[in-house]
Amino acid sequence: MCGIIGYIGTKLVKDILLDGLTRLEYRGYDSAGIAVLTPSGVEITRTVGKVSALKEAATQAADGHAGIGHTRWATHGGVTVPNAHPHRCGRVTLVHNGIIENFALLRERLARSGRFPLSETDTEIAAMLIDSLYDGDPAGAILGAARMIEGAFALVVLFEDRPERLYAIRRGSPLVALSNEDGAYVASDVTALLDHGRDYFVPPEDVLLVARREGIQLTDQAGNAVRPQMLRADWDYTAAQKAGYPHYMLKEIFEQPQALTRTILPRVREGIIQLEETAPVDDALKGARQLFIVACGTAMHAGLAAKTLMENMLRLPVEVDIASEFRYRDPIADAGTPVVLVSQSGETADTVAALRLARLKGAPVVAVVNVKGSTIARESDAVIYTHAGPEIAVASTKAFTVQLAALYMLTLHMARLRGALDQDRLREHAQALLTAPQLIQEALDRESQVREVADAVHRATDMFYIGRGLDVAMAQEGSLKLKEICYLHSEAYGAGELKHGTISLIEPGVPTFALATQREVYPKTLSNMREVRARGGTVIPIVTDGWEVEPGSYDYLLRVPGEGGVLAVFPLAAILQLLAYHCAVYRGLPVDQPRNLAKSVTVE
Ligand code: AGP
Ligand code: GLU
Repeated sequence: MCGIIGYIGTKLVKDILLDGLTRLEYRGYDSAGIAVLTPSGVEITRTVGKVSALKEAATQAADGHAGIGHTRWATHGGVTVPNAHPHRCGRVTLVHNGIIENFALLRERLARSGRFPLSETDTEIAAMLIDSLYDGDPAGAILGAARMIEGAFALVVLFEDRPERLYAIRRGSPLVALSNEDGAYVASDVTALLDHGRDYFVPPEDVLLVARREGIQLTDQAGNAVRPQMLRADWDYTAAQKAGYPHYMLKEIFEQPQALTRTILPRVREGIIQLEETAPVDDALKGARQLFIVACGTAMHAGLAAKTLMENMLRLPVEVDIASEFRYRDPIADAGTPVVLVSQSGETADTVAALRLARLKGAPVVAVVNVKGSTIARESDAVIYTHAGPEIAVASTKAFTVQLAALYMLTLHMARLRGALDQDRLREHAQALLTAPQLIQEALDRESQVREVADAVHRATDMFYIGRGLDVAMAQEGSLKLKEICYLHSEAYGAGELKHGTISLIEPGVPTFALATQREVYPKTLSNMREVRARGGTVIPIVTDGWEVEPGSYDYLLRVPGEGGVLAVFPLAAILQLLAYHCAVYRGLPVDQPRNLAKSVTVE
């Protein structure tokens, strides 16, 4: 959540901050602000709304050579200018990503010494706390405050009387840093820094970062120097631009064939899938008596699809959990139950917490992650990177299909380790998986048909998605996409479950998408679809090419390229994504930045 940027150096800072915030805006966009160190002190500009509003407001603001910026996703206090960051208290000005859980206690303590906040945020309490501890030693004040704060934070701090330095510290929340001949930069993620360099690092938790125009130093709580572990960004900024598409989401939907190729191809060796990266946990995968897949949102839906696949192929029980439940429900995890985490960002707070809990319980952890060097990637026993490239739109699309591919490959890898499939079958699956990019391309080529259906249904207020087998997970993902960006109520159900209650919601004009790409249950799903139609609902089967659908039994029909089965998840995902996308466009909504959401959910 929320994007942070900071710079100190020889260049003018205002544009660096505003450009950085534009690139970070997908992380949060309810309000934004910058603070610039000028010869006459710290000058703060804050606005409610998008970064474009801040840019306008900042045109007259003074410039300088050090400053911090923030785009907010409110957790504590409404979306107002006083709650927007940066927050100032005395000589301290800071921006924050995260949640200070004991802010009420700290606020009480500060009140006893006559200090009262002006905003409703937890962040301002951190500024007040640091200021209250500040006696001319910024390092002491920040480290002292960090010891008192409970919760998650990335803080970037300016001290008015220390204009030659910028300070930062993190615990739980993401932060990256780099320096070049022009100065030193910090940001919530590397996409904001790609113009300034490729070699960056993640400051370790609870370590103080001091940035000066000459470079960056890290010091731990005991005062020892810490050497950063350097990482290299393999994305360039063009990969994070719209490249002529009206929205990032559409661009990312159309990037799926390449993303899948990049993810699958390097893992096919001698005709079968071979995952070298899971070597540290291969013994555990081989001997596992159960598997957990833990994730949030779309990544969790990829896990649901994988469960079907893994249980079928491996005959191994798989439990899929949302990370926010897993972390608090004392799961029965141990060395015999590997945990597979799935995350695009690698920074989702609940998934990070699930990871730490799993490790505490002694469970081996394999992560399927898109962002290199992210927290989940760093802390897991093994990482299977997906190679989707930067995903900017809040609604996840290409990250989802590469997660499906990665989990499919993990299944095949485990099948080999466990002797669940023979060599011929392993070859067949690898060959089949290699056709996924082509299948998804064929689905993308049908965009105009999908758009026509979107045109027909986008005014609805409720929609349903039904399916059986693998199509249940896909129904859930299709429904989530629609809810996120179209702001309309939608539900996903196992097709057979509708009649156990939900069918009472069907009335004339309510669209139901019946996903039917799984041969064994295909006639069943179509029967359930007819039950909906018999009650006046508008039905739209989304059915594998060539499979018969009785004329007159539906209102609109969409076709999924391929032959159904496991591979159908790829083209079907693309169709569902295009459907949500075009509904949102018809409804005139801000596709890439839907209300109330943020791309990386780095708070609980
Ligand atoms: C997807 O469209 C959502 N924006 C959201 O559900 C997302 O998938 C979820 O927050 C998990 O994020 P992660 O993959 O970065 O962990
Ligand atoms: N808790 C802070 C606020 O509400 C920061 C939220 C965030 O990380 O986006 O302003």
